[in-house]
Amino acid sequence: MKTLILAGGSGTRLFPLSREHYPKQFIKLFDDESLFQKTVKRSLLLSAPKDIFIVTNKDHKFLIRDQLAEIGCDCTVLVEPEGKNTLPAIYYGVKAIAEGNGSSPVAVLSSDHLIDANSQYTEAFRKAERLSRDRLVVFGVKPTCPHTGYGYIRPGQALEEGYAVDAFVEKPDLPTAERYLAEGYLWNSGMFLFNSDLFLAECASLTPDVARAFENPVVQAFEQTPKISIDYGIMEKTHKAAVVPFEAEWDDVGNFDALYGCLPKNGNRNAVRGEHIGINSRDNLIISDRLVATVGIENLAIVETKDAILIASRDEAQSVGEIVRLLREKG
Ligand code: GDD
Ligand code: MG
Repeated sequence: MKTLILAGGSGTRLFPLSREHYPKQFIKLFDDESLFQKTVKRSLLLSAPKDIFIVTNKDHKFLIRDQLAEIGCDCTVLVEPEGKNTLPAIYYGVKAIAEGNGSSPVAVLSSDHLIDANSQYTEAFRKAERLSRDRLVVFGVKPTCPHTGYGYIRPGQALEEGYAVDAFVEKPDLPTAERYLAEGYLWNSGMFLFNSDLFLAECASLTPDVARAFENPVVQAFEQTPKISIDYGIMEKTHKAAVVPFEAEWDDVGNFDALYGCLPKNGNRNAVRGEHIGINSRDNLIISDRLVATVGIENLAIVETKDAILIASRDEAQSVGEIVRLLREKG
């Protein structure tokens, strides 16, 4: 199986840890490794290094080269001339794989997730590979809340493995997400597996603008293709989708509250990276290279980098991305 890793996104909700030139997937959040490095290591359970392809934009090319060297993995890096969201990135990668190797199953992975690579992980991919001849397979995670930042999948008829997808809805509003939660929908994990030829054919029929753009050389292809995600461009439209439930631990570490949830806690349920002295302080996330002292605080995220300090209520961690928008407006 080939693996295609998407590493060109720029998250904003982990500001100031994440920056436009240093997005979430490259920050060393856990065990002194980035989520990107962990994703590459996980891919080695599915594919040999020569069968691992990374699609990113030119701003992250050198960062990726350095992070790959740190983990000693030599895989192919495909550089987009400009970011046009996930569908053009995947199309570019799958076309390159198909041209070099003929038709083959391709696992498409996001690079910004924390996943426990246990036997359930590899088993899910084996199941998906069996379905991939005539299905575009997505991995579905059991939801824990009505999160509006995810795609939702309604599983239908049972197949030899997993289920046919009855409906796929990308990022619904809150009342809809609440209803989906009650109705047994799954979250889209942001990981897919499909046969390269089937994917290219589905694109040609469902998003012909993207497929047509890629009849040109890469620079023109990216100039001409619309900006669109695989979720809106393919998964919401196709009748050939299947979902394989994904049982391994999965978190997209989308904001500081999620990061707090993934880190180990001390006796007062504070998650601390650095040195902290707290009096009557609990349930906080504290990240700083300097000593942080707190008195009588709860449920905060305190994050210090070289040039910025964020102090946010963990309950409102979703809104940290707004700060980045305001900073961009200020210029
Ligand atoms: N190469 C490249 N180029 N990669 C990209 C681009 C791009 O233009 N845009 C995003 N990516 C990468 C990101 O780095 C990430 O690894 C992955 O593609 C998914 O993009 P996100 O921007 O993180 O998407 P999302 O989190 O809003 O939503 C997706 O993931 C959710 C699960 O985390 C969707 O697929 C949802 O349906 C899904 O639930
Ligand atoms: Mg994401």
